[in-house]
Amino acid sequence: MQFALTEDQLLVQKTARDFAREEVRPRAAEIDREHRHPAELVARMAELGFLGIAVPEAHGGAGLDHVSYVLAMEEISAACASTGVIMSVNNSLVCDPLYRFGTEEQRRTWLRPLAAGEKLGCFALSEPEAGSDSAAQRTTATRGGDTWVLSGVKNWITNGPVADVSVLFAMSDRALGNKGIAAFIVPMDAPGVRCGPPDDKLGIRGSKSCQIFLDDVRLPASHLLGEVGGGFKVAMSTLDGGRIGIAAQALGIARAAFEASLAYAQTRKTFGKPIAQHQAIQWKLADMATELDAARLLTLRAAWLKDQKVPYGKEAAMAKLYASDVANKVAREAIQVFGGNGYVTEYPVERHFRDAKITEIYEGTSEIQRPVIANALARGL
Ligand code: CAA
Repeated sequence: MQFALTEDQLLVQKTARDFAREEVRPRAAEIDREHRHPAELVARMAELGFLGIAVPEAHGGAGLDHVSYVLAMEEISAACASTGVIMSVNNSLVCDPLYRFGTEEQRRTWLRPLAAGEKLGCFALSEPEAGSDSAAQRTTATRGGDTWVLSGVKNWITNGPVADVSVLFAMSDRALGNKGIAAFIVPMDAPGVRCGPPDDKLGIRGSKSCQIFLDDVRLPASHLLGEVGGGFKVAMSTLDGGRIGIAAQALGIARAAFEASLAYAQTRKTFGKPIAQHQAIQWKLADMATELDAARLLTLRAAWLKDQKVPYGKEAAMAKLYASDVANKVAREAIQVFGGNGYVTEYPVERHFRDAKITEIYEGTSEIQRPVIANALARGL
């Protein structure tokens, strides 16, 4: 067993850490307060190769592994969880399926600019009536000759308002249930595509999400991603990888809350000594650090398995389930360590508390991760 990171992975981690500390963290409170899409940070992530980390260089990406992706995601999310999820969606939910299911022409046309960060992507699976139950798609895809016509509504689409292109799912044959779903590459400026107003959210307020309305959107057949009827498997296998990204985002949020708590506890005094010397606070810090480490190990293992090209869906779900739980617990305890100072916006922990919650919801709620894990166990995985 080998726990040491490679030279390349250490370099990615240091690059991401320096970028996060010098450029992302100083802006995070303002991005949250102003609900601002951090376009300048997205441009810098493109320069650093962080928008297509695991995409081969031949297709415009950085050609690194998924362990590197997790390391970079943790650093960036520790500074700003909104910036983290913008990166995660582009890498995991857009570049990854385009690479795995795209034709050479689709890779050239769509993957290359997305992986290079020249364009930004979104993933449109959820609908008003299809959140956890993704197979209940109501958006329709009707084929007429060489053209597909898409109509329907997508919900809570992260990056939607700022994306150039969407990997989007629709029902081409309702009678076939999940085997009647197809995946499409939809340019966001195609006639008939319209974004609703940005969602007004509890946390990750710099990450823009919205409804997407599709009104008789006509696409050439070359925009079908994968096979007709294969869309559900495109979505599910993509979410397996996405869950590693969200686990890493949760890890980053938890680490930021923990580090802030540790530093505060060493300087804040009550009853004549730093609160870090009171057992009540020591226990909190010890539990936070232990659970954070466990979450990191689960997340790195899932990424490592993906790099080994062996099944990793169960481990990705475990990592997301546990890391999101840890993020919420650590952020809640961080507020307790800070006391009254934790409840006001002068300190960052209230932001971490608000940002942590979404990690238990998107890319499959915690209530969905458990059956994903249990079903894998039942299949002997
Ligand atoms: N990879 C490949 N195929 C898979 C798969 C996977 N991970 N999981 C399931 N499948 C296949 C199954 O093998 C099965 O195929 P066969 O019929 O050929 O055997 C088929 O898909 C149906 O599987 P299930 O019966 O398990 O499907 P289900 O309808 O019961 O749903 C579910 C399963 C796990 C609940 C699924 O609906 C799910 O994951 N729901 C959560 C959705 C989700 O995560 N949404 C996130 C939206 S995106 C987002 O959040 C992005 C963002 O904002 C950042």
